Amino acid sequence: MKIKDFAIERYFAEHEFTAKYLLSSSDCDGYSMQYVLDQASPPERSRWDSLTLGYTETRGAAALRTAICKQYTGIGEKDVVVLSPNEAIFSLMNVLLEKGDHVICMAPTYQALYEPAESIGCAVSFWLPQSEKNWYYDPARLQELVTPQTKLIIVNFPHNPTGHLPSAEDWNTIIGIAREKNIVLFSDEMYRALIHDPEDEIPSACDVYENAVSLSGMSKVFGMAGLRLGWLASKNAALLHKVEAFKDYLTICSSAPSEILATIALNNPDKFIGPNIKKILTNIELFRAFSESSDLFEFYRPKAGSTAFIKLKTETPALQFANAVVKETGIMLLPSEMFNYGTHHVRIGFGRANLPEILATFGK
Ligand SMILES: Cc1ncc(COP(=O)(O)O)c(C=O)c1O
Repeated sequence: MKIKDFAIERYFAEHEFTAKYLLSSSDCDGYSMQYVLDQASPPERSRWDSLTLGYTETRGAAALRTAICKQYTGIGEKDVVVLSPNEAIFSLMNVLLEKGDHVICMAPTYQALYEPAESIGCAVSFWLPQSEKNWYYDPARLQELVTPQTKLIIVNFPHNPTGHLPSAEDWNTIIGIAREKNIVLFSDEMYRALIHDPEDEIPSACDVYENAVSLSGMSKVFGMAGLRLGWLASKNAALLHKVEAFKDYLTICSSAPSEILATIALNNPDKFIGPNIKKILTNIELFRAFSESSDLFEFYRPKAGSTAFIKLKTETPALQFANAVVKETGIMLLPSEMFNYGTHHVRIGFGRANLPEILATFGK
């Protein structure tokens, strides 16, 4: 299969490890190995100390899948396959889709969520937000996009980059639209636990719809991107089985050290997620104050997740602006051109502890 370059990841490849400051990352700061191991129970610690570096189970170690199930209300070990997140998306699309199928995907979005479908030869329709209404995604517009050929609906809540999260009512409507025609709902929940107000929490798609596949992972919520570990959860056993078999052509199995470290974190979520949410909320307030005083950004408060999609007040196209900023100040921004969404926005990430220092430099 031929596939287009992944614009966001190519832009990160150019700047992430050379720019001094990252103001657009979607993950939270990585926790140290020592911090993770300090949270281990005695049996987990002894598994770590006696670990041998062989292959692991293709589906993921049993202890890891047991820990993953705690994230859901009705998911068992057999309903989970462990993969790296983009591997999971790529595998699912390959086993599910055929040339000519119709797919609906939210936009702007992470390119991995629609590019494999386009490469397979599917017709992809984009569900667009109302930017003037704080990036509201209207379920009525989703309904209008459904055709008799629609095989897959792809959503991502909390949404990267806008931070949109549907109300419980809208979430029910979205799931109802998929259920009515038995369409597979792929729900990218990479940012799911990064809820700013606990009242806003919505259930995982795989817990409420039997033909939904939920994606989650360790990068964003747990601050452990370096593990390269995520998973799919679904009650659609046949589909998960095909994904597991497809994985044989990719990584075959996950990394053994990553599996143990992820298990420790998943068994101690409060030690990882709480500090991340606190940092995000503090940083959103700092950025709000900065944008109100700087006349450069039109501030919009994300409802959940770790990012916001902010309008630039300058006439300069976002890519040109971001290139100039990284060159002159060492601050990396992610321009909306990388999301194939016009030239007026940049993504801001709130998961990094050095945001005050970055804003001080930006201010100068
Ligand atoms: C919506 C979404 N899905 C999937 C991923 C991939 O996650 P990971 O970086 O852990 O592979 C990302 C990463 O930015 C993302 O934003």
